[in-house]
Amino acid sequence: MVLENKRASHLPKHVAIIMDGNGRWASKRLLPREAGHYAGMKSVRETVRAACDLGLENLTLFAFSSENWKRPKTEVGVLMGLLRAYFRSDMDELAGRNVRMRIIGHRSRVASDIQKLIEESEKRTLTNTGMNLTIAFDYGGQEEIVAAARELARAAADGRIDPETITTELFAARLFTSALPSPDLVIRTSGEHRLSNFLLWQSAYAELLFLDTLWPDFDRAALEGALAQFDGRERRFGALDSEAVA
Ligand code: IPE
Ligand code: IPE
Ligand code: MG
Repeated sequence: MVLENKRASHLPKHVAIIMDGNGRWASKRLLPREAGHYAGMKSVRETVRAACDLGLENLTLFAFSSENWKRPKTEVGVLMGLLRAYFRSDMDELAGRNVRMRIIGHRSRVASDIQKLIEESEKRTLTNTGMNLTIAFDYGGQEEIVAAARELARAAADGRIDPETITTELFAARLFTSALPSPDLVIRTSGEHRLSNFLLWQSAYAELLFLDTLWPDFDRAALEGALAQFDGRERRFGALDSEAVA
């Protein structure tokens, strides 16, 4: 009982995952890349369920970057189809689990029927009080920062704000993630050691965890392992650790 309490207190408030490695997972099996994306969807379901069961408050999943439009049309089509299928088939379960859905990203560049599904899912789960599940889709961190800067510049040009009053808090309030705490753990699967334009502002003090696991192989045990690694990290936020202070 005591152990459980200790564990819960060390759970990150916000876990964000760069779900990478679907293509390589498929290639290793001599399958087309899309088979990896389908398999990756199973990992999404298992991870979301596990996160809910563990009592995680915020989970953000990077599903499609603003740079992923550069991929062949057929692959982009498969990824769009998977998002569509996810909203159609999983929304009842997510709503039943008291999950609140948010989709962050450009939005207006995706097909109008997907936009409608996104809006419906956000509306349907608006008052849910369980886990915040955020899907980053057609998301790019630099674009997000530029959009916030543009909005503030416009307000300053119109005389609605004094540039001297712009603070980090005011800036963060203009980001897609304004309602969420900063991620304290960012996981990337597939062995790549980069952020690929994901939550650039928000990850300023996140613990980064790079796993060799390919996304379709990520499961409940992998999430628990990642949380255990987070538990062992010492976070200082630029200050000194408690021993050095004492
Ligand atoms: C992640 O897997 C899914 C998306 C980026 C949409 P990848 O498709 O990038 O798989 P790899 O990195 O080529 O193995
Ligand atoms: C990052 O993966 C985007 C998502 C996981 C959605 P990529 O596969 O697109 O990243 P790079 O191209 O290897 O940096
Ligand atoms: Mg990749």
